[in-house]
Amino acid sequence: MTPNPTSHHLSDGTTAPLVGFGTYPLSGADGVEAMVSALHAGYRYLDTAVNYGNEEEVGEALRRSDVPREEVRVATKIPGRHHAHDLALQSLRDSAGRLGLDRIDVALIHWPNPSQDLYPQAWAALVEAQREGLVTTIGVSNFTEAHLTRIVEETGVTPALNQIELHPLFPQAEMRAVHERMGILTQAWSPLGKRQAPFDADPVAAAAAAHDVTPGQVILRWHVQVGSMPLPKSGTPERQRANLDVEGFALTEDEVHAISGLARPDGRLFDGDPDVHEEM
Ligand SMILES: NC(=O)c1ccc[n+]([C@@H]2O[C@H](COP(=O)([O-])OP(=O)(O)OC[C@H]3O[C@@H](n4cnc5c(N)ncnc54)[C@H](OP(=O)(O)O)[C@@H]3O)[C@@H](O)[C@H]2O)c1
Repeated sequence: MTPNPTSHHLSDGTTAPLVGFGTYPLSGADGVEAMVSALHAGYRYLDTAVNYGNEEEVGEALRRSDVPREEVRVATKIPGRHHAHDLALQSLRDSAGRLGLDRIDVALIHWPNPSQDLYPQAWAALVEAQREGLVTTIGVSNFTEAHLTRIVEETGVTPALNQIELHPLFPQAEMRAVHERMGILTQAWSPLGKRQAPFDADPVAAAAAAHDVTPGQVILRWHVQVGSMPLPKSGTPERQRANLDVEGFALTEDEVHAISGLARPDGRLFDGDPDVHEEM
């Protein structure tokens, strides 16, 4: 448990804020507006992907927000159809073009897609892109311990972060321990639990009442204290502000354990087991 962090320190020497902003499925003019609102609320880490189809909107929001470019970290992801080495490098260059950036702050492999068996090539391409200065931080998403071990063995380079499904119904204690051992930051997708968010569950509702905060803030504070960087998405300015406001209180150890106790064996939001689920 991490009692009182103020930012995340990654193994490559960079930092990331405690809470980032998920941009899927924000798109079009409304999407740009929601992202500008998030930047104005104080978010300094935007999570997108080629497959979200909104990299241009992310770039547009960055420019329109007037937040200094160097204050914001933009993360994107290589899709399954671009895993082959040269396609992966081209994918990154195309993402940079759509984002309107010379350099991508964070680039990840979106899903390992083990049946394609090309994710080691995508990782080698990311290592190269980092050496060439096209990408600052390289990482992965939805990787298991076996996938992580393989790319580290093949390249000698450990991802700085792994973005995985993680919320109170699926707290991923084993993967968090793997990450800690390997020096990898745990990032959480669907951190609230999306449509299954346990806002009314006893430990969440009780902590919200005890600390005079919203259930969403309790869940996001739980992430902070278990060492996970959540990426909540909201198109609503009020929720955007609340979701970022998690440093003014701390959960007790008992509250953290009680929320972790909401874990269910079938807690995944859909059948997103990275050993079998694949996305192109
Ligand atoms: N790497 C991957 O494979 C992967 C997979 C899925 C997602 N992601 C990333 O993770 C991000 C977040 O995931 P997600 O959108 O699936 O799940 P989420 O952030 O857990 O949930 C978002 C939903 O919760 C609502 N919400 C947000 N804040 C709330 C609050 N304080 N109280 C009540 N409701 C609230 C939002 O509605 P409103 O917008 O109406 O507020 C939205 O419907 C995505 O945007 C994406 O960047 C990555």
